[in-house]
Amino acid sequence: MKAVLSAVTAYLPEKVLTNQEISTFLDTSDEWILTRTGIRERRIFDRLQTDLKSSDIAAEVALKLLRMQNLDPLKIDVIILGSMYPDFVFPSTACVVQGMIGAHNALAFDITAACGFIPLAIQQGDMMIRAGQAKNVLIIGAELSSRVVDWTDRNTCVLFGDGAGALLLTSVDDSDPRGVIASTLKSDGRFTSILQLKKDEVDQAHFLEMDGKSVFKIAVNEMADSVKETLNKAGLQEKDIDWLIPHQANIRILDATAKKLGLPAEKLIVNVDRYGNTSSASIPIALMEAVESGKIKQGDLIALVAVGGGMNWGCNLIRY
Ligand code: ACO
Repeated sequence: MKAVLSAVTAYLPEKVLTNQEISTFLDTSDEWILTRTGIRERRIFDRLQTDLKSSDIAAEVALKLLRMQNLDPLKIDVIILGSMYPDFVFPSTACVVQGMIGAHNALAFDITAACGFIPLAIQQGDMMIRAGQAKNVLIIGAELSSRVVDWTDRNTCVLFGDGAGALLLTSVDDSDPRGVIASTLKSDGRFTSILQLKKDEVDQAHFLEMDGKSVFKIAVNEMADSVKETLNKAGLQEKDIDWLIPHQANIRILDATAKKLGLPAEKLIVNVDRYGNTSSASIPIALMEAVESGKIKQGDLIALVAVGGGMNWGCNLIRY
């Protein structure tokens, strides 16, 4: 048996926050944000909804996917969830969501890898399906970034956006031409301090702290290498890739990765301009848009690649 990517969807807040609006309360400008990051706007959940939790938006996107697939929640065998802002340290947000959506047969757990979540989750789901431990694996990235960025820190808050995305991996027979072909994952704990979610000692509020330049360098160096290593494992080459779907962090990181792989801009999926960095949800959101717009077709070879807090990075090659 092997895993195919059988469904993808997203749940996004309606409220659009433009660079222009941010520059009304912060010392920044549309021009600075756009040229340094490629971001024009991002979505954020209403700040007055103070009781909104990551599990709420995760359950929304999960139920949307189940409705789309006409899938009974009891048929979900595993839920893997990523979020920079889990409801609790424990229980896992995946367990909270399992209860909320009635997926009572599912094993549920979180992976803590911030923006590097998707390659890890897909690799984990793929292995469980190959081992015969699961038939349906639900992967959810749920981000309330607007609740964890420091809105007085122009170095970080302009980069992030809210949103949730979900993917479904389903077990199929080996004869199916589709499927997860190969994955590569790496971690480097020497870089734990360059991207962290911290807690203010006085008011205990969370805030995201980042050394943007160091993150930038690791992302540019490692994302392309990760794709190359995964292609090698699969006996494929850069020219075989139909679509590169990187974690949507910064247009300069995306362009540099495509360039290092010798891929033309037309093969690069980009939506960071409209959503900013939605961390664990960014690849599902980009994938959903590319599938819905008809860009990605069945049989296409797609490369998903991400880097995030840890640092962690990795790639999945998938025949869609
Ligand atoms: N508006 C105006 N000026 C700003 C802003 C802003 N929003 N932010 C920073 N500046 C200033 C800085 O203070 C600095 O001023 P100085 O020279 O007087 O000190 C100047 O702009 C240049 O700042 P740099 O840090 O040199 O800008 P750089 O070109 O490196 O871009 C950026 C910064 C956009 C953060 C970039 O480094 C980046 O994108 N890094 C990667 C970030 C990322 O992807 N993070 C998420 C990773 S995934 C995860 O796990 C969550």
